[in-house]
Amino acid sequence: MRHTFVARRHALQQAEHGTGKPFDENKALAMKLSGKSALVLGGGTGIGRAAAVSLAREGCRVAVAGRREEKLQETARQWTGEPPMVTHTVDVGDRQDVEALFAWLAENFGPVDIMVNSAGVNVSQRTMADLRPEDWEKLLRINASGAYYCMHAVLPQMRERGDGVIINVSSIAGKRASLLGGVGYSAAKFAMTALGMTASLEDGPQHGIRISTVCPGEVNTPILENRPVPVSDEHKARILQPEDVAEAILLIATLPPRAHIPELIIKPTHQEYA
Ligand SMILES: NC(=O)c1ccc[n+]([C@@H]2O[C@H](COP(=O)([O-])OP(=O)(O)OC[C@H]3O[C@@H](n4cnc5c(N)ncnc54)[C@H](OP(=O)(O)O)[C@@H]3O)[C@@H](O)[C@H]2O)c1
Repeated sequence: MRHTFVARRHALQQAEHGTGKPFDENKALAMKLSGKSALVLGGGTGIGRAAAVSLAREGCRVAVAGRREEKLQETARQWTGEPPMVTHTVDVGDRQDVEALFAWLAENFGPVDIMVNSAGVNVSQRTMADLRPEDWEKLLRINASGAYYCMHAVLPQMRERGDGVIINVSSIAGKRASLLGGVGYSAAKFAMTALGMTASLEDGPQHGIRISTVCPGEVNTPILENRPVPVSDEHKARILQPEDVAEAILLIATLPPRAHIPELIIKPTHQEYA
């Protein structure tokens, strides 16, 4: 439709303004998420930030949420096109805070077509012998309950529309026992994987909602700073980069409503997965 094309064209012109690249009219026509809106939890850094920028480049209106406003603002500044990204702080592990975020979105942003849950944490003392009970609770609260609270908040509006995409960023540690991730993180990520896969069985066939679980291997993001053994620059360069996972997220988000990827595993070529 003509007005959609004009909006796409405007978004692309804004995005490429000042980059020195010639404006590509065919690319404007090809933007797949024009008219859609996305919420990216954990959008202030790492995979969430890369996903937020990729979704915006594809014509999507994007809101990013996380605990640190300054990180959300940094992400928002990486997108100079139209419409600008909006930001809102949230602790996904706090049910009231999640409800407040969704009330704000309803008032200021509108419906959420695509929700990417990339909020997650790990701790440095992660073996069974070293893991502290308070860290176990934190890992479950943020990685597992946080995903549940956000899905619980977004699903009613998606069911009403009979449409929606939810992409939960779990981990290979949520598929296979992993000493690298540690016991608490693995338990929380297994829970997150089970949550998405099971909810998908209900809301896919009944309501046309596509819930995907993305399970990355090692990715070069700030979460690595919590590793018990520091990660070398050489290793960081060899593993996945946040943009690689963002590509997978974008693929899921841009497929037609008839196509659903329940689970996607993406890993560095040199990492074992058996
Ligand atoms: N990097 C890897 O090797 C790897 C591998 C597999 C899976 N993953 C998963 O990928 C997801 C993204 O992580 P990442 O690698 O991109 O690391 P990251 O850069 O540390 O991103 C995690 C994001 O989650 C946000 N967050 C943490 N706790 C939160 C809370 N309670 N409420 C709201 N937001 C919260 C953080 O922002 P604030 O601190 O500002 O809240 C941060 O922006 C995580 O779920 C992680 O477990 C990562």
